[in-house]
Amino acid sequence: MKAIVYSGYGSADILRLEEIPEPQVGEDDLLVRVRAASVNPYDWHLLTGLPYIGRMHFGWFGPKGNGGLGADLAGEVEAVGAHVKRFRPGDAVFGMVDGGTPGKPLLDLGSFAEYVRVSEDSVAPKPANVTFEQAAAVPAAAFTALAALRDQGRLEPGQAALINGASGGVGTFAVQIAKALGADVTGVCSTRNVDMVRSLGADHVVDYTREDFTTGGERYDLILDNVGNRSLSEYRRVLTRQGVYFASFGRPENRWLGPFPYLLRMAAASRFGSQRLVSLTPSRAPEALTALKELIEAGAVTPVIDRTYALAEVPEAIRYLEEGHARAKVIITA
Ligand SMILES: NC(=O)c1ccc[n+]([C@@H]2O[C@H](COP(=O)([O-])OP(=O)(O)OC[C@H]3O[C@@H](n4cnc5c(N)ncnc54)[C@H](OP(=O)(O)O)[C@@H]3O)[C@@H](O)[C@H]2O)c1
Repeated sequence: MKAIVYSGYGSADILRLEEIPEPQVGEDDLLVRVRAASVNPYDWHLLTGLPYIGRMHFGWFGPKGNGGLGADLAGEVEAVGAHVKRFRPGDAVFGMVDGGTPGKPLLDLGSFAEYVRVSEDSVAPKPANVTFEQAAAVPAAAFTALAALRDQGRLEPGQAALINGASGGVGTFAVQIAKALGADVTGVCSTRNVDMVRSLGADHVVDYTREDFTTGGERYDLILDNVGNRSLSEYRRVLTRQGVYFASFGRPENRWLGPFPYLLRMAAASRFGSQRLVSLTPSRAPEALTALKELIEAGAVTPVIDRTYALAEVPEAIRYLEEGHARAKVIITA
């Protein structure tokens, strides 16, 4: 099969499209014919080995895993192991490779390939009303949004939620999920994305090139910050007394420690006052996938695609995401 492979750490230039053997399917696994995958900042961290502190986990001199890249996927089941109960060949599924699933080997990646092996609980039946490309857009980004808004934030109807970075991969899901939970939603984005964010259901849109959401009179019960461009005190100023702030971002500008200094400051600041400043633990498959499938089939969430690239164009797709101005999701078709 054709797959994107690499060794060592580096830029997108080190990625190669090669012919490699199809993965072997274990008794609890599925072999999936990948129809589409999506690109996430996570792929960039694994490719570059940045921040350096992450190499304690990824591997010091190069990724410890199977040399593949890509976590999100949608496709058709090609073969199933003897113990697999929920799926049969031909089923359409979406989810994440095991490397993206908590509790599984981190580096067993590789949805940028024609076939991928996944365990049964890493995927769910694909939502019937969207394409493979849209389904592949969902897992990692929507898991993050779901964790902040539903699982850890427990957003309630009528509460005010602010999504900073509303036009990106996480943000476009977050706006829609917050609306589905009944919140009054404010999205922060630039001028060119104002109409898109409003069309996703945002009640209020702040154009960050013209307005500063930290100096207005509004207060928010929940802030999901996908950008990290303001200070903690500025975020706290616009939180309600019992409000909660989530940081999803990776602060790539700190090449050594990534987000850790910021997360430590958040933990320290959380000890004073009633506001909570929380680092995010993404929701898990398969429950989260099933919840997202239901939201999509009910029409409450529609995955938005910015650009679609062929498998051979993964390096271009990663360079595009790295620029930091993608509108919603970037997709690979295999
Ligand atoms: N995607 C995932 O699965 C995932 C999971 C966990 C954590 N994260 C982390 O969450 C963060 C966001 O991820 P993502 O996938 O949403 O990234 P992304 O899709 O690359 O985000 C790009 C978006 O951010 C917007 N943006 C840039 N500067 C902004 C600003 N100052 N204010 C408001 N919006 C701004 C851009 O809009 P403009 O072009 O208009 O500036 C663009 O639409 C990353 O740090 C990532 O590491 C992502």
